[in-house]
Amino acid sequence: MSEAILTVEKINVYYGTSQALFGASLNLYPGETLALLGRNGAGKSTMMKAISGVIATRHGKVTFMKNSILGLPAYKIARTGIGYVPEDRQIFPTLSVQDNLVIAYKKGPNGENAWPIERVYEMLPLLEPLKDRMGGQLSGGEQQMLTVGRALMGNPTVLLLDEPSEGLAPIMVEKIGTLIETLKSLGNTIVLAEQNLHFCLGIADRAVVIDKGTDVFNGSIEALNANDEIKQRYLSV
Ligand SMILES: Nc1ncnc2c1ncn2[C@@H]1O[C@H](COP(=O)(O)OP(=O)(O)O)[C@@H](O)[C@H]1O
Ligand SMILES: [Mg+2]
Repeated sequence: MSEAILTVEKINVYYGTSQALFGASLNLYPGETLALLGRNGAGKSTMMKAISGVIATRHGKVTFMKNSILGLPAYKIARTGIGYVPEDRQIFPTLSVQDNLVIAYKKGPNGENAWPIERVYEMLPLLEPLKDRMGGQLSGGEQQMLTVGRALMGNPTVLLLDEPSEGLAPIMVEKIGTLIETLKSLGNTIVLAEQNLHFCLGIADRAVVIDKGTDVFNGSIEALNANDEIKQRYLSV
């Protein structure tokens, strides 16, 4: 296996005095889709926030493309090429779809411009006819597509997707699944936080399972799916 593009080593993360991650680790390899699985409250979003610098990490190491990114402010981490799609979909409700996309534009870490807006619309065809619609008037699924579009506008090297299927109608869940597969087939490297193992089957290559703020499984998605003990102990399946 090639060298990891992103490594998280034994990080501790706190909300005030309340500890949420306890020595949690993961490795991400170029071109793969890694499922970050765990029950509600396990620490998946906290892991995503720690990697993207939205929350401080007290101990451990976070290394991206051989450089430590631990302690950098979120905007600098974004500039290194990590695109973060948060759980709560932070779009601008009073801006149009088009403007939500335009203001998210930035070049990649090496000046890449792989995602001109036309290509983002091609990737997310659902958004094209909604160009002039206000962000706040979109359905949950459309907002999720817009959040992914905003991340792509930033030309990321790695995409962190926090529960993109959560709360969406089955047809939109399917569309999101297809989108992730397409992004992967284009060579993107993705971390997909999910509670739903089923959604990750056929999309993810490997899985890390997190429970009570610690990683408890690390292996192929097939190995996880075959491991009834881990599934019963740590996942809601
Ligand atoms: N803003 C917050 N303030 C205090 N505790 C939080 C906050 N966000 C999450 N937590 C706690 O951190 C732990 C991990 O939460 P989270 O990372 O959101 O889990 P997941 O994304 O796996 O559902 C939980 O115990 C949760 O209650
Ligand atoms: Mg979460």
